[in-house]
Amino acid sequence: MDLRGRSYLKDGDFSADEVGWLLDLAVELRAEKRAGRARRRLVGKNVALLFEKTSTRTRSAFEVGAANQGAHTVYMGPGETQFGVKESTKDTARVLGRMFDGIEFRGFRQRYADELATHSGVPVWNGLTDQWHPTQSLADLLTMRDHVARPLVDVSVCFLGDGANNTCASLVTTGALVGLDVRVAAPPQRRPAPEVWAAAKSLAAASGGSLTVTDDPLQAVSGADFLYTDVWVSLGEPEELWDERIDLLMPYQVTAALLGATGNPGVRLLHCLPAFHDNETEIGRRIAEKRGLRAMEVTDEVFESPASVVFDQAENRLHTIEALMVATLGG
Ligand code: CP
Ligand code: NVA
Repeated sequence: MDLRGRSYLKDGDFSADEVGWLLDLAVELRAEKRAGRARRRLVGKNVALLFEKTSTRTRSAFEVGAANQGAHTVYMGPGETQFGVKESTKDTARVLGRMFDGIEFRGFRQRYADELATHSGVPVWNGLTDQWHPTQSLADLLTMRDHVARPLVDVSVCFLGDGANNTCASLVTTGALVGLDVRVAAPPQRRPAPEVWAAAKSLAAASGGSLTVTDDPLQAVSGADFLYTDVWVSLGEPEELWDERIDLLMPYQVTAALLGATGNPGVRLLHCLPAFHDNETEIGRRIAEKRGLRAMEVTDEVFESPASVVFDQAENRLHTIEALMVATLGG
């Protein structure tokens, strides 16, 4: 398998075999690191981290992953570069391509990620756009592999809540690619875009996976191995949307009762994080004062329960992103 020079701009850019190989590489890098015998495969490489939106996990995974492999990173945070304000994507791409061996981009428009890849001449990795979160779905698959002994073609995952967001689009697409049974429980107003769903259906037909969408959370979770949820208002969306989203999505909150409704005592919680499971955040506090809510997309009881594997999932961002850099930049 040779992914050198390839970009990863959205889910579906790599084949199922390539994704499987990347996950195997992530497992290998993780084992090497834990055993204290890590090798440095990217010495002398320079990686640009261009962020239009904030981040904890994605930034950390790229920085730590690069450092583990001996590469150097330059972090350019929101508002810190000429990008978009004084310089076009095409010009920024051509400049970064002259100095860096690879570019991570987190931003608003998918078009910007695509243009960076077209004009930079180096691999570009999408660290989240409004449409896609493709490095997240790699970590999601690895976490499912870690926690269920069966092959992924025999695993069911149910995404609940804002089915129209980037994380759900990525889960549905990469899940369909590798043959998962993916269910989405969301109201008609917040479902994956028709073109995302149609493309994922074709992938599922080829892989033997299955895709279903319903507004009935109880029906959706029946027999599921994993329940997956994400914030109800994503980065870049206005805070005024919270009221409307709470009204719309509260029936999809992941509760202990919903875990029970799976009928699977081994069911696990996935969440890409950050999560609103308590009032220990500014936004959580504001919503608690206004709406009297203690949690949004997942209750604290479930988040803190043994069923929750969200911090394994967060750690797997590191191993999968490190593998992605090694695979696409490696010599
Ligand atoms: N899951 C994720 O992308 O987290 P950050 O926004 O902290 O990078
Ligand atoms: N859907 C969320 C994911 C955060 C990692 C967002 O875009 O904000």
